[in-house]
Amino acid sequence: MRFVISYVSTAIRELHQDEVVNILEETQIRNNKHGVNGLLIYTSGNFFEVIEGEKIRITDLFKVIKEDPRHKNIILIFEKEVDKPLFKDKDANFISENTLHRQMEVENFLYYIKDLDEGTQTTVKNILKAIATNS
Ligand SMILES: Cc1cc2nc3c(=O)[nH]c(=O)nc-3n(C[C@H](O)[C@H](O)[C@H](O)COP(=O)(O)O)c2cc1C
Repeated sequence: MRFVISYVSTAIRELHQDEVVNILEETQIRNNKHGVNGLLIYTSGNFFEVIEGEKIRITDLFKVIKEDPRHKNIILIFEKEVDKPLFKDKDANFISENTLHRQMEVENFLYYIKDLDEGTQTTVKNILKAIATNS
């Protein structure tokens, strides 16, 4: 069963560009290796992440992420089973402000979440809007 978790969090302090790149790169490599798909955005001191993959892997990974001392105030936005992968591309997609990681337009992301219920989609859209406004 595929499972998706999405959360927002606050970086423990304003991170330097290279620290953000490190987290994004580390995350991308690990996730690709473990068949985890996702999206990680860092902007103005906040993270927004969506991780999707085998249920056990995703729930275990979220436990690890929650313990990571580089961020705090982790707020779960949604967690749910999905019957097909949210991300068509087999590689995880990661974007952040001012970095050259593979760019993914928010419009594309909204396409990927179109199978989630309407309330969840609205929540995600509002968060993305807030992130876009802050950056
Ligand atoms: C905001 C944030 C998001 C992260 N997202 C992931 C992720 O999607 N996948 C991952 O493997 N590690 C992610 N990490 C790193 C993990 O918290 C952890 O450091 C890493 O998985 C290594 O865990 P280990 O030392 O127990 O092997 C993230 C860290 C932060 C701060």
